[in-house]
Amino acid sequence: MEKWTIQKLLGWITDYFGDKGVDSPRLSGEMLLSYVLGLQRIELYVHFDQVVSGDKLKVLHELVKRGGEHEPVAYLVGRTEFYSLEIKVNRDCLIPRPETELLAERGIEFLRKRQGRQYVCDLCTGSGCVAVAVAKGVKDVGIIATDICDAALSVAADNVAHHEIGTVIKLLCGDLFAPVIEGLDETRFDLIISNPPYISASEYETLDKNVREYEPKKALHAGEEGLDVYRRIIEGVDVHLKDDGALMLEIGYAQGKAIKDLLKGAGCFSEIIIEKDFQNNDRVVTAKKKI
Ligand SMILES: C[S@@+](CC[C@H](N)C(=O)[O-])C[C@H]1O[C@@H](n2cnc3c(N)ncnc32)[C@H](O)[C@@H]1O
Repeated sequence: MEKWTIQKLLGWITDYFGDKGVDSPRLSGEMLLSYVLGLQRIELYVHFDQVVSGDKLKVLHELVKRGGEHEPVAYLVGRTEFYSLEIKVNRDCLIPRPETELLAERGIEFLRKRQGRQYVCDLCTGSGCVAVAVAKGVKDVGIIATDICDAALSVAADNVAHHEIGTVIKLLCGDLFAPVIEGLDETRFDLIISNPPYISASEYETLDKNVREYEPKKALHAGEEGLDVYRRIIEGVDVHLKDDGALMLEIGYAQGKAIKDLLKGAGCFSEIIIEKDFQNNDRVVTAKKKI
């Protein structure tokens, strides 16, 4: 009978995913193999000649088939990596994207430069990836993270528990700032940070199958031009932001001008900076409040 070593399997899955047009075929293959074998990705290379047993091959075969049909590998294995942290995911939440790491990074840098305890509001938290990265990256911080979807918040709760930051992050269910209660919660923040839904109606129709058919629509779509949630965040931001605080938003690659106009219209910001991501697309907006 043919012997399937880790090396041989990885080669086969990579070719199979490549033929099917799956993103990052080798990385996806490594993620599936390490999940099924209970190994870290790096350990696959240490055990390259290990023969994989029949029962594990069966499980792997089924997952590779689903991956080849463009079911996202992060959902198949129930986790992904964000800002070098393991983040649990399922189909109730968006899979954290590498582009969003820039948002988390800018938030952490901003907070680290300030004195004393910092209060942060992460709107549209989903899996909680941004809030978790900020909680792990900044010493004295209290974070409120909100999401309208209870099921997504339960994924965020698992991530908060996994990273043992339950005393740092409070998860609240509701529409943007609505669940934040005066007198009970912090209501004015040093940083308001968000990666909200921002896909327009026409763009939504053109999304890849692995996104459109598997990821939650309410995590992606935000009205005709994709600006609905930004408009509502910007409407509510002034009363919730401290006078020297900042609003940081992830934006779509073609939304820079529209967001800048919305922020200027709010009249409470002194400085608005748009930064590009590693693919040279507009990605993160930082708006500093007028003192
Ligand atoms: C683009 S996903 C971002 C998730 C996560 N922050 C990330 O970066 O991966 C947007 C999230 O916003 C949530 N959402 C959509 N509309 C909302 C609203 N009005 N108030 C709060 N959360 C909302 C969705 O449930 C989804 O989890």
